[in-house]
Amino acid sequence: MKTYLITGGAGFIGSNFIHYLMQKYGDEVLVINVDKLTYAGNLSNLENIQDRNNYFFIRADINDRKALELVFNKYKPDIVINFAAESHVDRSINYPRIFTYTNISGTQVLLDYALKYSVSKYVQISTDEVYGSLGEQGFFTEKSLLKPSSPYSASKASADLMVEAYYKTYGLPVNITRCSNNYGPFQSPEKLIPLVIEHALNNKPVPVYGNGMNIRDWIFVKDHCRAVDYIANQAKAGEIYNIGANCEMENIRLIRLIIDLLKELLPYDDKRRIMINYDLITFVEDRKGHDFRYAVDSRKIRDDLGWRPEVSFEEGIRLTIEWYLRNQKWLRNAKKRITNWRKRGGI
Ligand SMILES: NC(=O)c1ccc[n+]([C@@H]2O[C@H](COP(=O)([O-])OP(=O)(O)OC[C@H]3O[C@@H](n4cnc5c(N)ncnc54)[C@H](O)[C@@H]3O)[C@@H](O)[C@H]2O)c1
Repeated sequence: MKTYLITGGAGFIGSNFIHYLMQKYGDEVLVINVDKLTYAGNLSNLENIQDRNNYFFIRADINDRKALELVFNKYKPDIVINFAAESHVDRSINYPRIFTYTNISGTQVLLDYALKYSVSKYVQISTDEVYGSLGEQGFFTEKSLLKPSSPYSASKASADLMVEAYYKTYGLPVNITRCSNNYGPFQSPEKLIPLVIEHALNNKPVPVYGNGMNIRDWIFVKDHCRAVDYIANQAKAGEIYNIGANCEMENIRLIRLIIDLLKELLPYDDKRRIMINYDLITFVEDRKGHDFRYAVDSRKIRDDLGWRPEVSFEEGIRLTIEWYLRNQKWLRNAKKRITNWRKRGGI
């Protein structure tokens, strides 16, 4: 039985990954989830998992050495996957300090314990944003220079360098993944897709940065989870992998598509249907340092490990909107968590 230590497992991608592990491996894995439960961590994402005998949750900060010592000593994980992070670019512009604390310092502390307890693989979940911005042409490859723009992407790039240093200096078996923008169930409504859904359902203006022509490259979260599983279990130590599904889209086009789909998928007698239209779209001042375009070349993981995305954007976005419509209580609660966190002075 393999033991996985998942950090940030109560967040969007981490919780999807735990669901993925349980569906794929069942009782053949032991999953330890370490999460600080910031506003972005939500244990209700794991409701149907928490009573399993092969799952344990520990509330802890990845900077907390005492807590990590106890966890590593007790469970002796084979594989550590670090999803824990401050993940929202806008928050990083307002409060960069928490990003260096969690994303850089926290990663380094985790690396210390991965080394001390001789894990067989440490996987750092990074992002394509470490490469900065593209113009109209070209793609990020694993050899592209690191040119982060925001405090968020700078903190992720710094963590990547620390992970590489632990590989080169101490021989810790690591991999780094750099994935494009994820979408799917359990994503916090501070991020674009659930934000548009939440605003449109509540007849609130849907904010769009600048002229809406910035381009993001989208991947369904389950395809990302499958890629992380391939990398954790099959990749050679020291390798970096981009992960992407070749799905570039202007933000404004995506927002219009979500509005169209919401109208189509809401029950015919739902009164909100008439209110949901393009008039909700409101252009706002552009984000500072806004990257124009991301586009990921993921040939390396396809060639080396045989991974391919399985969910088309058309299918994935429909599944996602249907999920949020079925889980409007979850969406309301996630929104409340953000509001309450701010009221309590959380940054
Ligand atoms: N969302 C995307 O599109 C995307 C794309 C590429 C890479 N990533 C990366 O994937 C990872 C997960 O992203 P996400 O979108 O699920 O983020 P998220 O914000 O939804 O979840 C982050 C989780 O980390 C936890 N956390 C935060 N600080 C912590 C700390 N100090 N100690 C322990 N736990 C802490 C939070 O409670 C939360 O559960 C991040 O590292 C992010 O950089 C995200």
